[in-house]
Amino acid sequence: MDDSQTPAQAEESAAEPRSGMSRKTLLKAAMVALPAPIVMAAAPAFSGEKTPNGQTLDPTPLCQDGDRTISQTEGPYFKPNSPLRSNITDGQGTKLVISGYVFGRNCQRISGALLDFWQADNAGNYDNVTYRFRGHMFSGPDGRYELTTIIPGLYPGRTRHVHVKVQAPGGPILTTQLYFPGEPRNATDTIFDSRLLMNVQPGNPGKTGAFDFVLSVNGPTTGPTTGPTTGPTTGPTTGPTTAPGGTWQAGTSYRVGDTVTYGGASYVCQIAHTAIVGWEPPSTPALWRRV
Ligand SMILES: [Fe+2]
Repeated sequence: MDDSQTPAQAEESAAEPRSGMSRKTLLKAAMVALPAPIVMAAAPAFSGEKTPNGQTLDPTPLCQDGDRTISQTEGPYFKPNSPLRSNITDGQGTKLVISGYVFGRNCQRISGALLDFWQADNAGNYDNVTYRFRGHMFSGPDGRYELTTIIPGLYPGRTRHVHVKVQAPGGPILTTQLYFPGEPRNATDTIFDSRLLMNVQPGNPGKTGAFDFVLSVNGPTTGPTTGPTTGPTTGPTTGPTTAPGGTWQAGTSYRVGDTVTYGGASYVCQIAHTAIVGWEPPSTPALWRRV
């Protein structure tokens, strides 16, 4: 980020303009796409219902007509190569379990989708040295994901939020943030968007937060496939089958200073990481500098 900016300013300066897309209920879509018993499992995630404090949530986009979960800035604290894990708690703070489903535009659940979460700790600090409160996982065969974490602390200039990148195998990366209903700073945070509110309910212990993602990809047409079996070094196993167009390759561990070619251009590695599909050099300027 620009050194003259605060973290909040850096996040705001890169924020996506709010669009006027229509809001409709995912429940309707789920009823079209899923067998009845599963509809009930998906319904609590986000369907315009009220939270315990009486706030009505915006409904999840209706996947059938091309709407999708909106993107937001990744902010200054994203760090690639997070550990593969679904529990990022450290014994402090209030437990929070975030869960939901990943859908494609055709309302089919997407298995093997990569979900990479990062957030502030209980005191509102990001760990940019190690990987506290960072972790990635893959959606299950039914498209479901579940993260066990804590309610993130507040830091100056922002309301309470959790960052996430979501990517269907071989698809584009959705970078966005999830929010908490009833937070006083929601009214003053210019990045906040009510379409990204989780449905937060009392948990046992702590809280639960439900949110379904609708990605800008077509989901499987023959039902969920088997999820990936590999860890964080290789990413989803069902990526593009076409050649990347250079020496860059997903699954390769790159060090600072390594050079690759992609799409006829040369790039030098800025941050050591293990490449995954979706982090190609042209789309990851934080990782690769064109030379
Ligand atoms: Fe943040």
